Amino acid sequence: MASEARYAQMETFYNRCGRSGVRLPKISLGFWHNFGADAPFERSREITRYAFDRGIVHFDFANNYGMPFGSAEMTFGRLMDEDFRPYRDELFISTKAGYNMWPGLYGEWGSRKYLMASLDQSLRRMHLDYVDLFYSHRYDPETPIEETLQAMVDIVRSGKALYLGISNWPLEPLRKAVTYLRERDVPLLIYQGKLNMLDRGPIDTGILDFCHQEGIGFIAYSPLAQGLLSDRYLNGIPLDSRMAQNRYLKPERLTPELKEYLTRLGEQANSAGRTIAQEALHWVLEQRGVTSVLVGVSSVEQLEDNLKNRRFA
Ligand SMILES: NC(=O)c1ccc[n+]([C@@H]2O[C@H](COP(=O)([O-])OP(=O)(O)OC[C@H]3O[C@@H](n4cnc5c(N)ncnc54)[C@H](OP(=O)(O)O)[C@@H]3O)[C@@H](O)[C@H]2O)c1
Repeated sequence: MASEARYAQMETFYNRCGRSGVRLPKISLGFWHNFGADAPFERSREITRYAFDRGIVHFDFANNYGMPFGSAEMTFGRLMDEDFRPYRDELFISTKAGYNMWPGLYGEWGSRKYLMASLDQSLRRMHLDYVDLFYSHRYDPETPIEETLQAMVDIVRSGKALYLGISNWPLEPLRKAVTYLRERDVPLLIYQGKLNMLDRGPIDTGILDFCHQEGIGFIAYSPLAQGLLSDRYLNGIPLDSRMAQNRYLKPERLTPELKEYLTRLGEQANSAGRTIAQEALHWVLEQRGVTSVLVGVSSVEQLEDNLKNRRFA
């Protein structure tokens, strides 16, 4: 049974997603790391339940999340069967296709063939009839943009996704996509891009402003720079950390300059009674046009920390 108090923060914890009928929690949960077959199932379950009990109704996936690829969606399929089925209509589930997923000619990028097959696979893994949001995970410069976008429109028309999103596309193709989708009455709901205090790409490229002006939501991924923007690495590299895995977060990132910056940030945060992670999430959420931040966590304690925010504590 989910907590009866899960929507206690209705007034402060949700933002409207662009000019749409959808509201999303300011903190959403990402399943890239910590939810695959390589993670303990009971921990994944505890984190997911904790999130939902606190009003986090948006869970974000991609075909290739978890190790091996696809296993985060499989974990969620089991959670659907065991815990979440009664709450399906309270949940906003997204998945994506774009990166390398299966061998051969049709397992990545932006062809109609790949996108359609990938979403079917995701639905089977997650034990769902439809996702709420389907994303193109990256821009494919070799497939005609119309092919990618028409496949996405047809996915919505088929009922397998309710809304469309775009992730990591540069501004110019994004502009074309917005026009194409609007003309077909399937307006783009949201853009997903990397935004944090150390990486301000969507601000510098104008993508965040563009989304704001066009009434498109923006959800920030890696808002803690994969954990760099926390107290995790203040005293070295913990053995159970993402950096210790040396795959997506390399120890080279931890330069003396960054360490100094983090130490200063930690002192400022602590003097205000906050943590670095809380300050970093607050910074992203304060940027004009940001709807939500997608956090990854490896424990309930981290999520608890991330949910302490001066605007919605
Ligand atoms: N569209 C895309 O291309 C794309 C790309 C990347 C991510 N995403 C999405 O964004 C989500 C989040 O990405 P991310 O995992 O890189 O986000 P992140 O929130 O920047 O980093 C998550 C990591 O930070 C650490 N952490 C989190 N909260 C903490 C706290 N309070 N104190 C100390 N450490 C803390 C944990 O590291 P440890 O594991 O070391 O404990 C955690 O695994 C993904 O799950 C995915 O849904 C999308």
